[in-house]
Amino acid sequence: MSDTKDALQSSAARDSWVARFATDADAEAILDLLLAAYGSWPAHEIAVPAVEHLRWKLFGRDDVRAWQIVVEDAGRIIGLNAVFRQPISVRGQLRSAYQFVDLAVHPEHQRRGVIPAARRFAVSARVPYGDVLFGPPRVKPGPAAQSTGRSDPALRRNAYLQALVLEGPVAAPPPARQSSWLLQTPSHFDERIRAFSSDAAQPFDLISAHDKEFLNWRYCDRRAGRWTVHTAEEDARLLGYIAYRISGDSAYVGGLLALPDRLDVVESLLGEMMRSLQGQGVPAVQCWTTSSHPYRAVLRDFGLDKKRRYVRLTVHADGEDLSDLEDRTATLHITAADTDLV
Ligand SMILES: CC(C)(COP(=O)(O)OP(=O)(O)OC[C@H]1O[C@@H](n2cnc3c(N)ncnc32)[C@H](O)[C@@H]1OP(=O)(O)O)[C@@H](O)C(=O)NCCC(=O)NCCS
Repeated sequence: MSDTKDALQSSAARDSWVARFATDADAEAILDLLLAAYGSWPAHEIAVPAVEHLRWKLFGRDDVRAWQIVVEDAGRIIGLNAVFRQPISVRGQLRSAYQFVDLAVHPEHQRRGVIPAARRFAVSARVPYGDVLFGPPRVKPGPAAQSTGRSDPALRRNAYLQALVLEGPVAAPPPARQSSWLLQTPSHFDERIRAFSSDAAQPFDLISAHDKEFLNWRYCDRRAGRWTVHTAEEDARLLGYIAYRISGDSAYVGGLLALPDRLDVVESLLGEMMRSLQGQGVPAVQCWTTSSHPYRAVLRDFGLDKKRRYVRLTVHADGEDLSDLEDRTATLHITAADTDLV
């Protein structure tokens, strides 16, 4: 799928445009495009050259989980349409979620149909999207990509969810309590994550079903950023994990998950993170959650109670009404690592 030889001439607005799959060899040219479109890239602090981060982000996963389409004009890359895919559990049913990342059109070519050209290529190449679109509200579902306007029936079935971004100072946590589990700082996730994820997902109407490959790519690759993972383990059983990154003078919680009703484990993991951040002199933390999330009270106990902003996300599944997920009582587990914003 990612072979440039498979490139198809898209029916682009301009004869000189060619839409094709991107490969690792395009990394430098894509970075030039992202710098032109975004001003700076990436948004977060990384410890490797930007092009290495880009390789990690766009080409660091197998092609079933991600695809990237570029649009060239006379050999110069002027547009990028990239998609991540990941498993998501919606009311206990495993689905495939997809999201657009680093969408970009070079400023000299904006508003001329570059993204639609990339989408037409995606349709002709039959790239997989997924069942559930996970993205900001402007995003249109893949299969409906060629339609226009919000009157599209597919768009009316979208559910618009809110992730609440909490901010707080790095709190002085109480000394670690005597507990029956061990707190570890592993370099990688192992097979145990499979059973853990399936158990931990039980209380949630919607939760990403992150597997070992995703978590290792997201948090355990040095090209990704300065991530730290703590796990709570008892008799070799995983009870929970927290993953956070430091960028600038803040820390950002990417993921925090524990077995059902184990708020004691959530508290222990947050305490371990706070102790570690204090030791490194990091003053503030941000954590995504949702309004009725079962961890809210524990987050509040650690000073994570100042609402910084909401991030709106669209969830769409073809042929299915998910609007009840908008209900404030729906139990949603949405974390920053579900998106590429942190
Ligand atoms: C956003 C950007 C890619 C849009 O490119 P453009 O050529 O100006 O395109 P248009 O505004 O004509 O929109 C083209 C399509 O992209 C879609 N689009 C725009 N922003 C989008 C987003 N954030 N996510 C998904 N799709 C988006 C539009 O809905 C439109 O589809 P439609 O024609 O079916 O309605 C371009 O302005 C850009 O590179 N901006 C700087 C980088 C940036 O902010 N990227 C988005 C980050 S999420």
